[in-house]
Amino acid sequence: MLPHTDLYQAILARRSVRRYETESLDEASLAQVQEIISHVKPLVGGNQFEVLMRDVGAGENLVKDLGGYGRIVSPPHYLVPHILGEAHLAEDLGYRVQQIAVRLTALGIGSCYIGALRREDEVRARFGLPDAARIAAFLIFGKPSRTLGGRTFNRMIRAVSGASTKISAERIFFAGTFEAPASPPADIAPLIEAARHAPSAVNAQPWRFLWRDRRLYLFVTRGNRRYGAGPQEQYCFHDGGIAMANITLALERPGKQVEWTMLGRTEAHIPSHPPDLHPMARLLVEQKS
Ligand SMILES: Cc1cc2nc3c(=O)[nH]c(=O)nc-3n(C[C@H](O)[C@H](O)[C@H](O)COP(=O)(O)O)c2cc1C
Repeated sequence: MLPHTDLYQAILARRSVRRYETESLDEASLAQVQEIISHVKPLVGGNQFEVLMRDVGAGENLVKDLGGYGRIVSPPHYLVPHILGEAHLAEDLGYRVQQIAVRLTALGIGSCYIGALRREDEVRARFGLPDAARIAAFLIFGKPSRTLGGRTFNRMIRAVSGASTKISAERIFFAGTFEAPASPPADIAPLIEAARHAPSAVNAQPWRFLWRDRRLYLFVTRGNRRYGAGPQEQYCFHDGGIAMANITLALERPGKQVEWTMLGRTEAHIPSHPPDLHPMARLLVEQKS
């Protein structure tokens, strides 16, 4: 079993926060956020990850301007994470930004992603990003509203976006083959629990896991109707990266590296899988001695 570290608790406790206290975070907290950003671990080493940090301007409506959905009340700050490189850019963005989101939760700072895949060109122009930069989502952050009204609002919006319902472990986990879903064995269960709690655009939860020969394979659902057709189909890769980050953070130990292998379509030894699943990554999970 994994120890109940603060970080693991933060993975499970994190929820999208959509109503914030109006005041900004203090300088020390903003410096902590910068510190967290500077220590994010890459999924693909060669990719170049950059993050702009901005205050939300008076009258600025980020959800509307950036192509997101729903309503975010009085957000004070946001991040503009973007990435340049050759391989697995959407996956790597999700992987890196989720590390920030979880560590913010551990500090008591709330956050909410705002998807930008339908507006990437406009967003690049607005923030002066290079043409080749990919940006999948913004991360709004600040102090969660403490008022009763604020808490109710955060709960209500979550219910509307379907977020209060996460798919059970027994429907996303398969052992040996994809023939029948299974309950994760005890040593893997905390990792699946971490992944299951991951945020995803429109709460689509594209992740499916196959456990075989002590390897955990991550697949994502293609053509997911919740994402819809068009550029937003690629949220499945971004959100798969988010789930991978939760697993990596759940395994975090001093001096320990968590090494995912990304799976290309041409890779040998990819277990057979239903046609609507796309193989994404594999992780060798060491047996506890
Ligand atoms: C890539 C991405 C884009 C999202 N875009 C929005 C958005 O535009 N508006 C919004 O209110 N929530 C957005 N969300 C938050 C999801 O609705 C939320 O993560 C999901 O419903 C699960 O709820 P939870 O984060 O509270 O666990 C987004 C999440 C992700 C990962």
